[in-house]
Amino acid sequence: MLHKYVVIFVPLLLLQINVLANPQITNLPGRNTTCLNGCWHVIVDPYENGYYNYRYEPSQNGYFKDEKAKDKSDLVEYDFDRSGTLQVPGDWNSQRENLLYYEGTIWYKKSFDYLTLGKNRLFIHFGAANYHAIVYLNGTKIGEHIGGFTPFNFEITSFVREKNNDIIVKVDNKRYREAVPTVNTDWWNYGGITRDVFLVETRPTFIRDYCLQLKKGTSDEFEGWVQLDGEQLQQTVTIDIHALKDQLELFTNENGYAKIAFKADLELWEPENPKLHEVTFSCLTDHVSESMGFRSVETHNQDIIVNGKPIFLRGICIHEEAPYRGGRAYSRDDAIQLLSWARELGCNFVRLAHYPHNEYMTRLADEWGIMVWSEIPVYWTILWENSDTYHNAETQLVENITRDKNRASVIIWSVANETPILESRTKFLKNLITKTRSMDSTRLVSAALERHYVDEYTQMIDDPLGKYLDVIGCNEYIGWYDNLPAKIDHIKWKTVYNKPLIISEFGAGALYGFHGDNLTRWSEEYQEYLYERQVKMLKKIDFLRGVTPWILMDFRSPRRPLPNIQDGWNRKGLISNKGEKKKAFFVLQKYYGDIMEK
Ligand code: GCU
Repeated sequence: MLHKYVVIFVPLLLLQINVLANPQITNLPGRNTTCLNGCWHVIVDPYENGYYNYRYEPSQNGYFKDEKAKDKSDLVEYDFDRSGTLQVPGDWNSQRENLLYYEGTIWYKKSFDYLTLGKNRLFIHFGAANYHAIVYLNGTKIGEHIGGFTPFNFEITSFVREKNNDIIVKVDNKRYREAVPTVNTDWWNYGGITRDVFLVETRPTFIRDYCLQLKKGTSDEFEGWVQLDGEQLQQTVTIDIHALKDQLELFTNENGYAKIAFKADLELWEPENPKLHEVTFSCLTDHVSESMGFRSVETHNQDIIVNGKPIFLRGICIHEEAPYRGGRAYSRDDAIQLLSWARELGCNFVRLAHYPHNEYMTRLADEWGIMVWSEIPVYWTILWENSDTYHNAETQLVENITRDKNRASVIIWSVANETPILESRTKFLKNLITKTRSMDSTRLVSAALERHYVDEYTQMIDDPLGKYLDVIGCNEYIGWYDNLPAKIDHIKWKTVYNKPLIISEFGAGALYGFHGDNLTRWSEEYQEYLYERQVKMLKKIDFLRGVTPWILMDFRSPRRPLPNIQDGWNRKGLISNKGEKKKAFFVLQKYYGDIMEK
């Protein structure tokens, strides 16, 4: 009995240590930050020689000690300051040709002074690092993080000095079977410190996190909570929504936590009118502001309802691939380009595949009124029966929801993509769905499922996971992986669920500028013909409430080697990686234009 108790207890303890030690500081733009982006010195370390000794044990004198030879006899076999550099943020694969396929460890070093901390606290915050990051400050390990697409931060108050601080980060993007995602993905394994790095200075007790949302199905009932961090946890917290004349006052409990609940008449966030309100949270020792939209999203039978009105989601899938330059997208400019193309298509919705994208995307979607499907990389066939794999997936889910819970644009949390129908998988995902709903009762939960034929032309949606979802996502590649485009004309759809359907993927590959007839594979004409047939079919699905074709722009994938056509790129984009629009782009644009005119 004891054995069972100990086994169950230890992983949860690890999870608790991981969560309690580094609670996410949210809303970085509203904080007192110092940016550490720029040139970092790097050491490429495929054998992790800077971490393990020759007995493959963690060394006490690894590269994180940043040792220097003091006299001519000293033996030191590395030197960050005389090693090359990489840009942060940015994947390493697209910065050096000899790192394009690199999977392993690269060590990063950045030095900084911090003269003005006084009695305040200091944290270091990473927007993301793919995949496993271990962070050291002045030779001491301050924390580690697993997961390539969610933010993390560590407190460095007691480690930082006024001059010559050295942040050293070991980033390892090796894939492994128990990971999330697992070893096979149809996207490039871009490694590195792939998003912004900031120092965050806070007061000794500060407002670390808060949530403020419209209660589902209401137009004037607001709910949420606020969380303080520090010693003076029992304080009065004031919430000031600048459009309202009255402020709300709360008193936090001994844990620094207070629930929020009030009624108010506020202009709501709508896709056509993405109203954002300036909201300020204040306490005796801190204040933080943010622009936030408020809207309600729910389902009613097979309809998706936003602010009481049924909507159709005119969407597109997007990978986090940088337009023109390639590599991981990470900036507001990248987000502007990608979402501008989506708006040009006539989209009111984007599926950010297959992992949480950088925060510039969801904040810009807030500003522009574009609704978002946000997804964690529980992709294809991960290890459903491995408890560490589950805790990894759940941690990434928690970190994603924590970061974006105040983004009006995010209407759907997706827990998976194209996973096999197994009892262990459905249990795994059901637990993730329960966790999602426990954290956020205001949004919809979905996943991209697969369909199957029940006769020559009838597609059936009856994946048992659908029972636990609010919205059914379904990927189909009829006319590409499944026969030729002409077959699409005969397809009928059935579902066992009285729930909205989003066709979360369909598409075809085409090399921009390659032309032929509509049966010439890889030609723009084939892709265009498939889109024409698909649109005709979609219009006949009476329980369809959204579409996110695969995909806005070509993206790198090691699974796509076909010479002179793919060359390591998945060519299903409606736009090439050089920004060139293919003929199918205009088919989708017309479909969405016709819907908007109705
Ligand atoms: C799958 C998968 C995508 C992949 C696409 C393709 O549906 O979800 O990640 O890129 O098909 O084969 O191009």
